Amino acid sequence: MTTLTETPVRPTTTDPVLAVRDVRIRDQVSGREIVKGVSFSLTPGKVVGIVGESGSGKTLTCRAVLGILPEHIEVAGGAIHVAGEDVAALSPAGLTALRGSTISAVFQDPASYLNPSIKVGPQIAEVVRVKKGLGRRAAKRRAIELIAAVHLRDPELVYGQYAHELSGGMLQRVLIATAIAADPRVLIADEATTALDVTVQAEILDLLADLRDTAGLALVVVSHDLAVVAQLCDEVLVMREGEVVEQGPTERVLYHPQHDYTRLLIDEHEQYGLDRFLAREGS
Ligand SMILES: Nc1ncnc2c1ncn2[C@@H]1O[C@H](COP(=O)(O)OP(=O)(O)OP(=O)(O)O)[C@@H](O)[C@H]1O
Ligand SMILES: [Mg+2]
Repeated sequence: MTTLTETPVRPTTTDPVLAVRDVRIRDQVSGREIVKGVSFSLTPGKVVGIVGESGSGKTLTCRAVLGILPEHIEVAGGAIHVAGEDVAALSPAGLTALRGSTISAVFQDPASYLNPSIKVGPQIAEVVRVKKGLGRRAAKRRAIELIAAVHLRDPELVYGQYAHELSGGMLQRVLIATAIAADPRVLIADEATTALDVTVQAEILDLLADLRDTAGLALVVVSHDLAVVAQLCDEVLVMREGEVVEQGPTERVLYHPQHDYTRLLIDEHEQYGLDRFLAREGS
């Protein structure tokens, strides 16, 4: 007889590109455990959502996955595997190589991630040059292709524009173009559409869904907006005070929440039109 392990026997068609197992995050200064055990795994083309109140540990969880925790904050337990690689075992150089190429991210406030005094196109081309090792000419060509891929009109024109010449939605597309420049397998979007107006937000969500469908990109979507999660995610984690209070398939968590806190979140969101997305149950 073989011994039973604790590993859940779940048939998957592909190995996970991201596996987060019981990750705990601690503040070394106060000794406080900020994130108290987060687990999920993501196969290509799948989307996991993280929701929950401000300060619940969503961003730190993402930053742990990316290996960019703030000073004094550390992963104090659990394991993170990106494309089969144990992130904790990687050297700083190995981590840097992984970031951008295998796993990438977009955050809120795209303008702050771009250099205001350099045209946006060359900034994308630089990422392509460094991460893909292309020459200048090829990197420029690729940057223009990427600008087109994120559905910006007139890519050649946009290539030569400065950040201040672009709208918030256009900037977020430029950031997404930069994030996917090295063909990552996982993209983390942490409140990536929060600052945008509703129409632009919907366009960016469509773009992410498109990348998921065409490139098999796996997504981690952090949002305070349950409608975003309902639209995009296969699975959702509900966090409160560093704990995952509920986790499961999006449909189940949003239609049949088991935890009071999830119910509270859903009630709060109903006024923002969550029912619009939930209505697809009947479709
Ligand atoms: N650099 C830091 N030093 C100390 N504590 C931090 C640091 N960054 C975050 N924290 C604390 O960790 C907790 C989780 O923060 P985190 O940014 O992950 O929350 P969040 O869920 O992303 O919130 P929001 O919805 O507001 O973005 C908070 O209590 C926060 O105060
Ligand atoms: Mg956050």
